[in-house]
Order: sequence, then C-alpha cells, then structure tokens
Amino acid sequence: MDTVTTATELRTHIAAWRRDGLRVGLVPTMGNLHEGHFSLIGRCRAHADRVVASVFVNPTQFGPNEDFARYPRTLEQDRLGLAAHGCDLLFAPKVEEMYPFGIDKSVRVDVPVVSVPLEGELRPGHFAGVATVVTKLFHLVQPDVAVFGRKDYQQLLVIERLVLDLRLPIEIVGAPIVREANGLAMSSRNQYLSVDERGRAGLIREVLLGMQDAVNDGMPIAEVERLSRGILEGNGFALDYAVVRSAHTLLEPAAGQCDGLVALVAARLGKTRLIDNLEIDPNPPVLRMFERNHATRADSFSNL
Ligand code: PAF
Repeated sequence: MDTVTTATELRTHIAAWRRDGLRVGLVPTMGNLHEGHFSLIGRCRAHADRVVASVFVNPTQFGPNEDFARYPRTLEQDRLGLAAHGCDLLFAPKVEEMYPFGIDKSVRVDVPVVSVPLEGELRPGHFAGVATVVTKLFHLVQPDVAVFGRKDYQQLLVIERLVLDLRLPIEIVGAPIVREANGLAMSSRNQYLSVDERGRAGLIREVLLGMQDAVNDGMPIAEVERLSRGILEGNGFALDYAVVRSAHTLLEPAAGQCDGLVALVAARLGKTRLIDNLEIDPNPPVLRMFERNHATRADSFSNL
C-alpha cells in the first residue's frame, strides 16, 4: 500500500488506475481505525478494483466545544491496519492541503433539509463540515463508489443527498454497524469510556431493539420515545435524543406510519457521547428474541 499526502500524488496514482480501466473505491475516515473501519475497506473491495482510504481529522466538522484537539491521531497504526486489510492507497493530507485558503475561507457545501434535525440541531455546522470535506475528497479521488458506515445514519443520508443533488456519478454504499460483544456500536470514541461505562453502554442497543419491538407491537411513538428516555436516563445516560423517525427524511413519522422507520439514540455516558440507530424491521427474525432471552415481544421493552 502506498501513502500519499498531496492532491498531485493522489491524482497520479488514480490516473494510472483509470488508464488500466480499473474501478476505484473510496473509504473516507478520520483515522484511529478499528474493526468497524476495516469492515468498510472489505466492503469497498467487493465493489471496486482499487481501494483508497483517506485519513483526515477534518477541523470544519468539529464545534468549538468538541474534541478536535484531543481526537486521537494514530497514523502509523492506521497505515499498518489498512495495509493488512487490503487497502491499496492511503491519502493522509495535512489541513493546508484540504483547505488551501484556510478553514474560514473555504468553499462550504451545505446540504439542506436532512442536515437540519437531530445532530444538525445539536451540532450546528457539523454536517456542512462533513459535506464540504467529503465533496473535496470526491473531487480529488473521483471514485466510482464510496463506502460509509451506517452508525452515522444521518451522515449517510446527508451524503446520499449530496451526491444526488450535485449529480455526482458515485455509488454510495452504507455498510452495516460493527458491534462489540455487548452490542455497543464500534467507534473511535469508545476508548474514552471506562471499563464500567463500556459494559453499561451495551444498553443503548438493547433499548433500540426494545423500541423496534414496541413500534411493531403498535405502541404510540411518543410513548416508545418516553419509555426509552426513561430507561437510559435511569441508567445514568445523559440523553440528547431517543426518537423514532422516518428513515429517509428523519422527519417525525406520519400518524399510523409503521414502516420505513428508524430508531436513533444519542447519549452521553460520563464524558463520552455515543450514537447508535436501528432501521426498524417490521418483521424481525424470531431468533433475535430468543437470543435476547425475552419471553414475548410485548414483555421485551419493560424488561429492560
Ligand atoms: O465519518 C467520518 O469519519 C467523517 O465524518 C468523514 C466522513 C470521514 C468526514 O470527515
């Protein structure tokens, strides 16, 4: 695997692949890679002949009180992991390469509507930062396909919308969430959790499954949300949201809407902010209930 840090070097590699008629895939990351990221590389490989990964901690998507400065930078370790997982090229630019006029004077890409609720309300400017850097990466790499994790569900919707609106000829693939044994969605931020918090953080997944069951049992969504909030807050989480939304728009579901829904949770445990989601399956496999040791679907939410 080669590593490049400039747009010129990147373009040279990609031009050579293009001359050979190869299909190019991109996996954008902010580094500090874990099994979740490596699964994106594997998925990208299934859709492309050559895989480019970018590692860039993007300053424009962090708010003033967020963890940009202390975000873990582990480039050498990331490089080894990417090479071991079959990545062909690592693009690891400096801030000046991505923002040649400085971050305050950069062109900004703003994706309306789907950027607005939830994370958009809580982290003003975050999705403009994501959309801006992803657009720059798309222009530099010009991939045929790009892979993003479904854990950042709203981010995936923003990028899908960006590609459709700008008519970019890029296939966007959403990759399944990779989880720890207790159900906690893998994230670079999990390393901030204490051992005790890491164990307790598995409750988010349990609550999401409970939300799915309750929606499928016909419980009113306001009640599902109220119960979920109560369970998480009662177990020491400081909640940003635990909601059920329309899966394509993130708007509140229409009265009686029972499919095309997603449950989303954002909560802080200690100092660590965790997000997770579950696209609600109207007919979840029966096995899941046995796995979870719940006697009946109706019992499952109140058992938590
Ligand atoms: O999901 C991430 O790691 C980042 O938001 C992304 C897509 C790499 C843009 O900086």
